[in-house]
Amino acid sequence: MKKRRLLLVVGIVGLTVFIGFNFAKDIGWIEQSPTLSEPPKLADGAKESTGQQGGQVEGEETPQPTEGNDESNVDKPEITDKPESTDKPESTDKPESTDKPINTGSTVEVVGISKGEDGAMGVVAEPENVASLVNPFNKLPEDYNPTDLVYPDVRFIFSEKIEKRKMRQEAAEALEKLFSGAEDAKIYLAGVSAYRSHETQKKLFDRYVKRDGYEKARTYSALPGTSEHETGLAVDVTSSDGKCAAADCFGETKEADWLKMNAATYGFIIRYPEGKDKITGYQYEPWHLRYVGTSVAEELVANDQTLEEYYDAVPVNN
Ligand code: DAL
Ligand code: ZN
Repeated sequence: MKKRRLLLVVGIVGLTVFIGFNFAKDIGWIEQSPTLSEPPKLADGAKESTGQQGGQVEGEETPQPTEGNDESNVDKPEITDKPESTDKPESTDKPESTDKPINTGSTVEVVGISKGEDGAMGVVAEPENVASLVNPFNKLPEDYNPTDLVYPDVRFIFSEKIEKRKMRQEAAEALEKLFSGAEDAKIYLAGVSAYRSHETQKKLFDRYVKRDGYEKARTYSALPGTSEHETGLAVDVTSSDGKCAAADCFGETKEADWLKMNAATYGFIIRYPEGKDKITGYQYEPWHLRYVGTSVAEELVANDQTLEEYYDAVPVNN
């Protein structure tokens, strides 16, 4: 009898504690611990939009904070920090390699930032070739528009299906593999800005000129017709928390480290590397990826070369 009464009391006390604990959790007295291994939520791009957002130019990058970052067209991303890992992904999927295009390069040894400085302005002969050199001295043909733009199925820091989410088919597929390989290594990336039409690049560049003046703007933004973003082969990326979108601080992140080590496996290069600004014409952009195909990308990394250095021997296409 005594034993049954004791069991009854223990049962009632246990039930009371259980109910009390859950009640405290529900009303927030007790904090729930985060689930660190939870995969990040993708921006699903469900919302269709074709225009600009909030008066901003659609393809806009977030310029360097030191230059006065007043751009804020990026939605707040949904993801925060993930557990750190620097493991290389095991993915063996590789995009198709591509041949070196003919006559797309410039023989100038140092590609400066002043248009026509040495009279070497050329027009890209094979703009559809994924390894084409597009730079301050090699502009795209006036009427060039990539014809196979698609939306890569990867996370962006905004959810709308708009121009700057697009890339050319081959580059888009390679980017999907790169994001997936990164996630295997617990590296969570997000797109910031990919394709820009000529018109968008023009609006963007004009905006920067108004803000910073022509010479300053040229150090970080391409003249319309000379931006790789117009090819549909370039994409600016950041970490999934979006904190350092197109800003110097991205260079200090584990995501940037991973890209340096692994982007070439997927056919991408860090197009404007540190210390090569005299050659590329642009300051270090750890976030700007350019798809060139795996064979070219791996060769560039192996030789520590920029695309300009790679094409040194190619005749100028005047
Ligand atoms: N920020 C790079 C150079 C571009 O405008 O294409
Ligand atoms: Zn870029």
